[in-house]
Amino acid sequence: MKIAVIGTGYVGLVTGTCFAETGNKVVCVDIDEAKVVKLSAGQITIYEPGLEKLFLRNIKEERLRFTTNLRSVVDEVEVIFLALPTPPGADGAADLKYVLGVADELGKLLHSYKVIVNKSTVPVGTADQVRAAIAKNYRGEFDVVSNPEFLREGVALEDFMKPDRVVIGTNSERARNLMSELYAPFVRQGNPVLFMDERSSELTKYAANSFLAMKISFMNEVAQLCERMGGDVDMIRRGIGSDERIGKRFLFSGIGYGGSCFPKDVQALIKSADAIDYNFKILKAVEQVNAKQKVHLVQKIKEYYKGNLEGKRFSLWGLAFKPNTDDIREAPALSIINALLKEGATICAYDPEAMANVKYQLGDSIDYATSQYSALEGADALLIATEWSEFRTPDFDRIATLLPSKIIFDGRNLFEVAKMKQLGYQYISIGRPVY
Ligand SMILES: NC(=O)c1ccc[n+]([C@@H]2O[C@H](COP(=O)([O-])OP(=O)(O)OC[C@H]3O[C@@H](n4cnc5c(N)ncnc54)[C@H](O)[C@@H]3O)[C@@H](O)[C@H]2O)c1
Repeated sequence: MKIAVIGTGYVGLVTGTCFAETGNKVVCVDIDEAKVVKLSAGQITIYEPGLEKLFLRNIKEERLRFTTNLRSVVDEVEVIFLALPTPPGADGAADLKYVLGVADELGKLLHSYKVIVNKSTVPVGTADQVRAAIAKNYRGEFDVVSNPEFLREGVALEDFMKPDRVVIGTNSERARNLMSELYAPFVRQGNPVLFMDERSSELTKYAANSFLAMKISFMNEVAQLCERMGGDVDMIRRGIGSDERIGKRFLFSGIGYGGSCFPKDVQALIKSADAIDYNFKILKAVEQVNAKQKVHLVQKIKEYYKGNLEGKRFSLWGLAFKPNTDDIREAPALSIINALLKEGATICAYDPEAMANVKYQLGDSIDYATSQYSALEGADALLIATEWSEFRTPDFDRIATLLPSKIIFDGRNLFEVAKMKQLGYQYISIGRPVY
């Protein structure tokens, strides 16, 4: 099949590459010229494990190409995916200007039947708006389909190639057949392709992300209780996670959720509900708990240093909002950095993949180390903000040499409390005892 993917960010690049990998001819369109030049030259623009190999293979096989020129591709493709940003607007609701802007443009460019598939996360009713925007200028046949994306950054390839489920919102038989054909190679093991109406499909995505965010905030509240009443949140996690009705995943307490999706999607669903005068109470609490949790580690640091962080130097391991990505959007590490800088502390940070993005955003307001160990030189304490694998079993003797204070504030509960005590560290983590 011939496909266009409009928007070549995390979702667009993974979508385009994976559809090319299954034999389709894909052209990815982006307005960012510099990005298109890089991608066309075979330079990948995001860090996503395993993606580069597939990306290069499909460029070589001439199944994947990149352009800024939407007009030149519309006539040659059958399906057009929208993988465009839907950032929060000034009031927190999803800003649809990119999606509707492209829909408007498409209306001026279509000459024959196309399926326009929305992969962006959008509020209920967006498919109708896209349809109306296209129909302003195009009188011919077309279908608009909602196909929310559930990939997780860091394991995006696996998620896309073997999705737990594919959700497709459409009432059109013709679009349904095309989508079935397109997704068939990805669901050969029998995972479901769930067809539903557009509105249910649009809401499924927000409900999924909001539910997962709720699990995280719930466990962070339990961690707060543990810190006040005694108890170890990790034990509680195991205790409840082994109940199949609850499930093991997304029960880790820490320093809150971040990233490009959960914060904005939770906020957008709250706003969508507000707009129809429905008070989505649980979700409002989820958001409030998360905002507090993002700086909970800073509270602990301040308590430890009796409120005075002036002149203190902290080594910070981890900047990305989660491991295996270079994405720093809404990363808790950034909230921690801002709060510590305000208190007069200095920071030397290390992250395996996200340093360039942080440098771009924060410049020289913090120092950057070339390794996790060199980040420790001259620091008063080590802070951990992202659970990268390489931070999980560090060389504690080496840490002790570089960090004589042996103080660790761990926002991701990476180490056993008892072991740290045995090694002579002062180890402060989330929702677990401090000896
Ligand atoms: N990142 C994720 O893990 C993830 C997962 C599931 C769903 N989503 C959703 O998918 C959508 C895209 O997210 P993303 O993370 O890929 O965003 P992104 O910011 O990484 O990429 C968006 C791309 O669209 C391009 N763009 C903007 N306007 C354009 C236009 N008029 N024409 C062509 N290209 C244009 C930008 O230059 C950018 O390259 C969002 O709605 C997001 O909520 C994201």
